[in-house]
Amino acid sequence: MKILVTGGTGYIGSHTVVELQNKGFEVVIVDSLFNSTADIADKIGMITGTKPTLEVFDLCDQEKTADFFKRHNDLRGVIHFAAHKAVGESVEKPLMYYRNNLESLINVMQGMTDNNIQNIVFSSSCTVYGQPDELPVSEKAPIKKAESPYGNTKQIAEEIISDTVSSGDLHSIALRYFNPIGAHETALIGELPIGVPNNLVPFITQTAIGLREQISVFGDDYNTPDGTAIRDYIHVVDLAKAHVIAIDRMINNKMKKDFEIFNLGTGNGYSVLEVIQSFEKVSRLKLNYKIVGRREGDIEKVWANPDFSNKELGWKAEQGLDEMIASSWKWEQELRSK
Ligand code: NAD
Ligand code: WQD
Repeated sequence: MKILVTGGTGYIGSHTVVELQNKGFEVVIVDSLFNSTADIADKIGMITGTKPTLEVFDLCDQEKTADFFKRHNDLRGVIHFAAHKAVGESVEKPLMYYRNNLESLINVMQGMTDNNIQNIVFSSSCTVYGQPDELPVSEKAPIKKAESPYGNTKQIAEEIISDTVSSGDLHSIALRYFNPIGAHETALIGELPIGVPNNLVPFITQTAIGLREQISVFGDDYNTPDGTAIRDYIHVVDLAKAHVIAIDRMINNKMKKDFEIFNLGTGNGYSVLEVIQSFEKVSRLKLNYKIVGRREGDIEKVWANPDFSNKELGWKAEQGLDEMIASSWKWEQELRSK
């Protein structure tokens, strides 16, 4: 049961490779190492006992991608994580985002169809919902105009997949992640933001460890109980496990439609201040934070209705906020102790 994991040395990809190997899948990773390092494959090997094969190249390279699929035409499925993901950067460099996120997807799907490989799991995002009219947001909610070029790449990618599936060549499951946080319990793999983090939890842990002086809380005048914005944070290992279920569902012909879409969230929304309070509780530290103005492009509140994925996939996020934050904190401490 050989699976290609693109972006497999990245944050969510590496945790998914661990879960796939734990379930007996053979994994080949393709990653350009644009936002990760080759030693992650060693770390995965330390966790699972098997170092996955890693091929380093850019999936935007059509020739290399075609050659890869020719050499691996026995693949049973693909999990496609490889993409750029910084929302702010995508506003400054839209072409870089459209090119990377869409060309790589097209090349991967071309390689699959040319070699009769049918199953692709795609990393989508709750960003496709924008600010939903109804909360919790279900898969049936309308897609809103994207807030950023990054978000637009996810919307367009879902359309490209849908059209390709309709042509009869592929089956696909798109997983719309809410806000992944946390790290593997071994603290051997986790999120490695390059430069100043954009996301809340890495910024909190980097502030607490002394890398940043203070964290800004973006806005306390939202229409929420404490005025700060609400998100559905989900542990990366819970997220990773859903990918194994999705690929298994495809391989074993358990899909109800040729293109299925699932939310991956916990169904619980937490405010920025609740996340900070959780951090202070589990770390027993005081966090240096200050309230500042809203961040441009941020939505007020979003959390998932995970009923469809709970029922159809038989999957449920298990870890609570404190556990997630504790694992992020353990990872940060481990990282900086070297
Ligand atoms: P990440 O940056 O840690 O991992 C992505 C990996 O893909 C990196 O290792 C990078 O080097 C690689 N990559 C990028 N472009 C490539 C290319 N052209 N060819 C080969 N490799 C390439 O990101 P992540 O957080 O693990 O995200 C994985 C996927 O999940 C992405 O598609 C992202 O858009 C999506 N997603 C992430 C979040 C989040 O908050 N982390 C939320 C929703 C969706
Ligand atoms: C969470 C909350 C911030 C940093 C992003 C992408 C989304 C998806 C997940 C990929 C917000 C607040 C943050 C800080 C803060 N990624 N915050 N101070 O913006 O919900 O989602 O990652 O698909 O597409 O947009 O996540 O972690 O950046 O922010 O107050 O220093 O924390 O305003 O309310 P976000 P985030």
